[in-house]
Amino acid sequence: MDQGEPVLRPMCRCRPDAYLHRVTSSLIDIARVSRTYSDGSVALDDVSLQVVRGESVAIVGPSGSGKSTLLNLIAGLDRPTAGSVTVDGVVVSGLGEKASALYRRRTIGIVFQSFNLLDDLTVIDNVALPARLMGTSRRAAARRANELLGSLGLADRRDAYPGRLSGGERQRVAVARALMNEPALLLADEPTGALDSAARAEVGRLLADLHAAGHTLVIVTHDEEFADRHTQRTIRLADGRVVGATPAGASR
Ligand SMILES: Nc1ncnc2c1ncn2[C@@H]1O[C@H](COP(=O)(O)OP(=O)(O)O)[C@@H](O)[C@H]1O
Ligand SMILES: [Mg+2]
Repeated sequence: MDQGEPVLRPMCRCRPDAYLHRVTSSLIDIARVSRTYSDGSVALDDVSLQVVRGESVAIVGPSGSGKSTLLNLIAGLDRPTAGSVTVDGVVVSGLGEKASALYRRRTIGIVFQSFNLLDDLTVIDNVALPARLMGTSRRAAARRANELLGSLGLADRRDAYPGRLSGGERQRVAVARALMNEPALLLADEPTGALDSAARAEVGRLLADLHAAGHTLVIVTHDEEFADRHTQRTIRLADGRVVGATPAGASR
């Protein structure tokens, strides 16, 4: 598979960046992105990175280092004050509100620390919801939701309400819901932040399995051990800047 290496070498050294952006097959291209909030706090400062289709990448760093801001920019939930965010060929940072909502439904699956499941819907209805919002018939949505619940080991929980599930099960349901519309990209912001160590390992294994099955994952976590164990590559942020990567040089 094409791992995103340039298929051609630059003929000149004048604008290597511009050239590489054109010939790589990055699913995500963050180019010189900054985000300053209206109160003047600089959450991201000139960040560039790329993620190739099929990669599993962790964004790590201490609290306040800009991880959630970066994830929100990739998700189209926020806009950079400088630079561009391109995902799957779409310049996300240039989308209006409607187009951005559509982009999120079509291209992105997102999982949060607090699960964000709807307590008065059953597991299967929670999972089916994104497809229902896209206009998929009840029957087709239920079929896909059942498939996902089966493959995530949750078949016997389909008619339960979220309140009856363990933390690990809730997060697996949230992952199933995020995968409902077959997104090009699965994002997770501190997916294990509310879990005990057994449930953390359970969710870690699920994310690793998804990567093995070909999904592209970007996982924000302050838990570096989790990142090392369950993802392929780690990008480290501090004070809104990329300060390192594992393996070395892996921020591209
Ligand atoms: N809505 C906001 N308004 C002002 N400052 C913010 C806002 N969101 C985040 N910040 C600031 O931006 C920096 C990065 O925050 P964040 O992206 O949430 O970091 P992390 O997810 O790594 O903890 C922090 O200094 C935070 O206080
Ligand atoms: Mg955060």
